[in-house]
Amino acid sequence: MASDPDDRRHAPATSRNRGPILKVLSRVLPATGCVLEIASGTGEHAAWFAPRLQPRIWQPSDAAAEMRASIAAHAAEAAAPNLRAPLALDVTAANWPQAVTAALDDAPLRAIVNINMIHISPWSAAEGLVAGAGQLLSAGGVLFLYGPFRIGGKHTAPSNEAFDRMLRAQDSTWGVRDLEAVAALAGTHGFALRDRVDMPANNLSLIFERA
Ligand SMILES: C[S@@+](CC[C@H](N)C(=O)[O-])C[C@H]1O[C@@H](n2cnc3c(N)ncnc32)[C@H](O)[C@@H]1O
Repeated sequence: MASDPDDRRHAPATSRNRGPILKVLSRVLPATGCVLEIASGTGEHAAWFAPRLQPRIWQPSDAAAEMRASIAAHAAEAAAPNLRAPLALDVTAANWPQAVTAALDDAPLRAIVNINMIHISPWSAAEGLVAGAGQLLSAGGVLFLYGPFRIGGKHTAPSNEAFDRMLRAQDSTWGVRDLEAVAALAGTHGFALRDRVDMPANNLSLIFERA
């Protein structure tokens, strides 16, 4: 796919959180197979993770066309042989798992990674993500979520509370999610919460495994 370097977008947080996230991914992702990244955003994570997580195949995606252009531009620069072209993928669409299966061809999908999306989208996006992941992953498959979460009905830091207020003011359907609600949702689609890792800047990595 031809790509224009000028399409590259930058999210400063990615260069701060990518090291700590990579450390967790290296430990929890299955050693081989394909990793589907949902909501890859600028594509900076994909371009940085893919060469460091070989031989896994990294499949980025995003719902927004301008983000997919950015992903493609960063991927062209990274030139990692295991990094695929971005998929157009909206997890609120009913048929997104079928589109993934068709695009992956025979590559075995072993994990789904989603970073900083479910609080910056309606709850229906979390529902669509987890339901589709439950259809796509087989036993032992990993669903990795990263972002801020409330625990026991409380924010884990004043900065997260302020961030939550800001998100909800911007869009009343957005907001920092409750860890327990996400775990319960995941449970209804066959996932168990296997691990929870405290991350810098009051974020969490949640590692779910498909039963
Ligand atoms: C805050 S950005 C995070 C991007 C990237 N993961 C990161 O950490 O920099 C949220 C991304 O979620 C994408 N997104 C929002 N709703 C989505 C949906 N329903 N399906 C797929 N992607 C979605 C947006 O287009 C955006 O790129």
